[in-house]
Amino acid sequence: MDLPLPPSAPTIPIREDLRLRPWRLGDEDVITAACQDPEIQRWTTIPVPYTRENAEFFLEITASDWASGAGGSLALVDPREDVPFGSFGFVSIRADHRASEIGYWLAPDRRGHGYAIAAVTALSEYALGLVGLDEVYLRIDPQNVASVAVALGAGYELTATAVTDARTPDLLDTYTRYSPRHREEGAA
Ligand SMILES: CC(C)(COP(=O)(O)OP(=O)(O)OC[C@H]1O[C@@H](n2cnc3c(N)ncnc32)[C@H](O)[C@@H]1OP(=O)(O)O)[C@@H](O)C(=O)NCCC(=O)NCCS
Repeated sequence: MDLPLPPSAPTIPIREDLRLRPWRLGDEDVITAACQDPEIQRWTTIPVPYTRENAEFFLEITASDWASGAGGSLALVDPREDVPFGSFGFVSIRADHRASEIGYWLAPDRRGHGYAIAAVTALSEYALGLVGLDEVYLRIDPQNVASVAVALGAGYELTATAVTDARTPDLLDTYTRYSPRHREEGAA
């Protein structure tokens, strides 16, 4: 079954000072700078050390992921500046299961303002609403307290422990899974 994903990365408005937009050429330097952060290197699967060539490859891959209908990453910006300071995206949309993990990072100097919670909330609503996925989930190391707080703040709850991940076999038993909290019918 084909998913109604756009053939290119979408723009998702969040609020006046926050928007998810396609990554594009020219963003390499901000990606490279942000990905020097030890927290991003510790908790995500980016290459370490992270070079400008890695950022160039990331831009190519995420564009081709969107073009192939698999969904990719989006840049978080303040539309008035349009300089990316975060990455939020579908790690892998599996059309057969109509499900996707959402992954993210925020540049260190932009943390602590609720931007990650707002972006995860908006991307989740986009995926479950406009795209029509049946399921979105987050996979988080329980020691990653900031990310667990993002999950809870974005309306997710812990649904599984010891989630496997072929990309990081050394962390096989440490990941936990968060899924959107069930909403009562008619609830806000
Ligand atoms: C995870 C990440 C995006 C969170 O960014 P952030 O700016 O803290 O997110 P928000 O401002 O939206 O806040 C999230 C919540 O986490 C809390 N928080 C942040 N850092 C924390 C910490 N070290 N300990 C406890 N709580 C923390 C904040 O207080 C906030 O809670 P609140 O809404 O109750 O006040 C950011 O830390 C990051 O990029 N980390 C590295 C990459 C990463 O871990 N990605 C996720 C992989 S699963």
